Parts: sequence; structure tokens; C-alpha cells
Amino acid sequence: MNVVEKLDALRVLGAYDGGIDRALLTPQERAARELFAQWARASGFALTQDRVGNLFARRDGTRADYKPILIGSHLDTVPTGGAYDGAYGVAAALCALELLAARNLRTAHPLEAVAWAGEEGSRFPLGCLGSSVFAGLSDEATVRALVGNDGVTYAEALASPDGGLLDDVPVREDRDVAAYLELHVEQGPVLEQLGLSLGIVTAIAAQRRLRATVHGRSGHAGTVPMTMRADALCAAAELVLAFEAAARDVGDAVATVGRMVVEPNGTNVIPAQVTFSLDLRSPDEKKLDEISGQMHRAIGRVESQRGVRVEIEMLEKRSATPMTPALREAIARALDGLGEKHADLASGAGHDAMCLGTIVPTAMIFVPSIGGESHVREERTADRDVVLGVEALAAAIVEVDKTLA
Ligand code: HGY
Ligand code: MN
Ligand code: MN
Repeated sequence: MNVVEKLDALRVLGAYDGGIDRALLTPQERAARELFAQWARASGFALTQDRVGNLFARRDGTRADYKPILIGSHLDTVPTGGAYDGAYGVAAALCALELLAARNLRTAHPLEAVAWAGEEGSRFPLGCLGSSVFAGLSDEATVRALVGNDGVTYAEALASPDGGLLDDVPVREDRDVAAYLELHVEQGPVLEQLGLSLGIVTAIAAQRRLRATVHGRSGHAGTVPMTMRADALCAAAELVLAFEAAARDVGDAVATVGRMVVEPNGTNVIPAQVTFSLDLRSPDEKKLDEISGQMHRAIGRVESQRGVRVEIEMLEKRSATPMTPALREAIARALDGLGEKHADLASGAGHDAMCLGTIVPTAMIFVPSIGGESHVREERTADRDVVLGVEALAAAIVEVDKTLA
């Protein structure tokens, strides 16, 4: 199966009229891991998985003493996901290994295609869950205790028959890696605007995910005078706009509130408690500190003016991650060798490469997203670019293998 056919097989898993919903350790995400395993076995790659659900398919190199080069991405999606974010990098990693095998090209380093467990953080409140454990940035016990949006802990989800680890796949402890490569759709408009099919990532923006909880006072919507209210939703609304204003004011940053839960959520009851997500990003971490400072001042003001109490929890904090120059240069040589033009560009989107980049040489290749769209049903990349990306990845693997040897 070529990469387009693999993507066609993956896109039906979790598909509905709103896009693709394939959250970590759900039956549809497990089915995607099963497909990965089926393809890997068909190609003779050795399968392993670790205890949090990362899945690996290995093709040996000529040097058994060398650590493997990992190549991969993630199979989970946001609730309204498209067919390319993550899935493309996983399918392409397998296809690149298959391409090298078909051409009888054997690298010195062993190669491992990887499907990282839960990059999106859609179900459990931690993005890059699997790759952060693998990179030693999150510990397994903390991850196992995470409670998903559905109230199920990670440990319970792992133990569930239709969501957990795959059957008949050996569990591994080994985390020794030589380097990491990730092919991903750009999820932005730059390559399309440049008229290019390939990009080499310079760095991934710093990102922080927080949860704000506003504690107010409930009451009857008809009888409590406006002057006597501690309305949690009105307070939250002020904070959301203050968050947006802070990002605009500081500049070179983006801030998003994507999820909000109002309790008790009754039309004739004053909201008692509101929980909302905060997603903050910038290539410059100092900007995130400035926005956080403005946010805390706004919280103090709203608490005193409205008689509410606001809690802020830091759920995830990822530093800006520069990609490794030697690997970027190797990829540039590989793409030049293919006669393909390319551009350097930063990534505003987060990736598993943020975690791997803290422990090993790491680099990313982008292909264009049509209209720059992603995290929506309309997410699409032209088949020509999808196929070219696999050629580029295979050439990059060979060049990186030589560079590291
Ligand atoms: O949010 C992100 O940037 C990534 O898609 N998880
Ligand atoms: Mn992704
Ligand atoms: Mn994503």
C-alpha cells in the first residue's frame, strides 16, 4: 500500500460529518495502531510498544551496535481533525522504510517508524503524552493518573480491552535513540504561498497549556439582584477577552481559549463555576511570560471586582525547540539531491519533535497544507506532495544516517 492508500485506510477510523475524532486509547485510535502493526508485519519490520502505548516498527541496519534513527508522528486527532495531521507522518515513516527496502538500501543505523501515543492532548490533559514519557519529560505514574474528559484515568483506559496496548506486541523499555525525524503537514499557509512542496523546519514555537477555573456563586436567575452576584461566566468572559488583549498587546504570540465548561449549565441558574482552557504560543518564551503577567493582573482585578476566585493550573509547558542544524543541513542536501526546491520555516504548531528534540538530534520536514487549513475536516494536502514527502523523507533518512555515522 502506498502512502495515499494508507491514509485512505486511516481516515475512516473515527470519521463523522464533523471530521475525524480519533482520541488516544479509544477503539478507533487502537484500530489505527492495529493498521500500523499490520502494515509493519507485512513489511517484515519488528514491532514493539512501550507501556504508555508508543508503537515502533524496526528495520535493522548494517550496524547492530548503532542506536536507531526514529521516524514518526502521531495517529490521534483533535475532535474535528483532518486526515493528515499526524497520520501522514506515521504512514510516511512506514512507506519510507518500505521504499528503502524495495531499493535494497540498508542504512548503517537501525530505523524505527513510530506512532507516538496521544500528541494532541484531546482526551487526556497532556499534549505529546507518549513522546514526553519516552523523552523522560513526563513520568509514567503521573501519566497513568491523568483523568480524561470522560472521567476515565489513563491507567483504566490502558487496561480497557478496546483501547489499550496491542495484543502480541512485545513491550519494550529501551529508549536509546540516535536521532529523530518527523514529516508533517505544515498546517499553515507559507509553503503554498511560496509555491513550494517541501519545507525544512527551523524551530517549533514554545507553548503552554493551562486550565483556568473560576469559582463564583450560583443562584436563581430571576431573584438575585445584579449587584449581589458572583457570576462565574461573566468573570470568565472578562478573563478570556483579557487573555486575547494581552496576546495582541505583547505581539509575536497567539492565545486561544478553545474549550469551556459552564456549571451547572442551566438557563435559569447563575453559573457557579466555569473551567476553560488556555493555549499560549510564541517563538519567544519571554513573550509568554509577559502575557502570563498581564493575565495574572487581570485575574486579580476580576476577583476583587466580581467576588470570584480564580485558579490557574499549568498542564503543559514546552520550551521553544530549535531543530538540529546538522540534520537540517543533511535534509537540505537530500532535497537538493532530489532536485527539489525547499524553504526554511518555523512551526507554530506543536509536534512530538518538541520532546525528542530535548534528548536527541531532531529535524522536521513539512509539505504544504492546502489553504493552510488544519485541525478541521477540510484539512488537505495534494497527493503529489504527499507522495513527494515520502521520497524526501527516505532521502533524508539516508543522508542523516551518513551524517551520524
Ligand atoms: O496543538 C498543536 O499544535 C498540535 O497539533 N498538537
Ligand atoms: Mn500533529
Ligand atoms: Mn494537531
